[in-house]
Amino acid sequence: MNYQYLLVDIQEPIGILTINRPEVLNALSTEVMRELVTALDAWETDDRVGAIVLTGNDKAFAAGADLKEMRVKSFADVFLADFPEGQRGAWSRIAANRKPIIAAVAGYALGGGCELAMACDFIIAADNAKFGQPEITVGTMPGAGGTQRLTRLIGKSKAMEMCLTGRFMDATEAERTGLVSRVVALAGLMDEATKTAAKIASFSRPTVIMIKDAVSSADELPLSQGILAERHAFQSTFALEDQKEGMAAFLEKRKPVFKNR
Ligand code: HXC
Repeated sequence: MNYQYLLVDIQEPIGILTINRPEVLNALSTEVMRELVTALDAWETDDRVGAIVLTGNDKAFAAGADLKEMRVKSFADVFLADFPEGQRGAWSRIAANRKPIIAAVAGYALGGGCELAMACDFIIAADNAKFGQPEITVGTMPGAGGTQRLTRLIGKSKAMEMCLTGRFMDATEAERTGLVSRVVALAGLMDEATKTAAKIASFSRPTVIMIKDAVSSADELPLSQGILAERHAFQSTFALEDQKEGMAAFLEKRKPVFKNR
């Protein structure tokens, strides 16, 4: 598959997707999102890929949905097309991918770009990263999860302020507030993100999926149901050869060899 706006690289056991539309700071047009969904859908069932890194360039992860494309759309256009999700979904489909996706964010992650980073499983940020939901400054509002995911990640007060003022948050504040898991030097961003993805990909794949599902469901389920679902998933890992191998390897003081079985 050839992509116009994506660089696609499989370095087994991980996949690296780079948004490549630098002339407009990686603005997320419908076509960019279509390509992203296509690539991520393909990797969801590709055994060579155990975890994914999604990134942009040093100046921008993505500076938002494409303002040039959106400017001319009417209410009927966006409503009938269910923009920005569309028929196959986009942000929500990426969030639902079974493989862990790390957003490696340098530079701007704004509007739909911030929403895209938040739709991933966690964010590793470079020290020059800037996050924001500036839609209000262009006469609209977040439309791909910004009011919901940002609020869950950093709390109502800061999310409300960011969405109502369009203020950008730097990497230090993003780490302090829990929007990102870690901040690293820009020069080391991809090294850290790919090492982290490779580490995840080295573990038992079924267990990785169960953990991703369990943590993701914390936003959706009442605590007692979440704890119960977690316990049942935990118990089901005991049906895996990998659980026997992992515990045996620990006790025999050797590295485990997981078979994803
Ligand atoms: C289309 C964009 C763009 C965008 C930047 N560009 N952001 N084009 N859509 N979201 C283009 C500019 O028009 C310009 O093109 C080029 O990229 C470089 O941008 P500059 O503004 O010249 O760069 P700079 O001065 O460094 O400022 C960087 C910036 C600014 C602060 C990030 O570009 C900016 O404010 N961008 C818009 C951010 C935004 O409002 N995002 C939310 C969009 S709404 P030319 O041709 O002039 O060189 C949204 C809705 C989400 O995301 C909900 C649905 C998914």
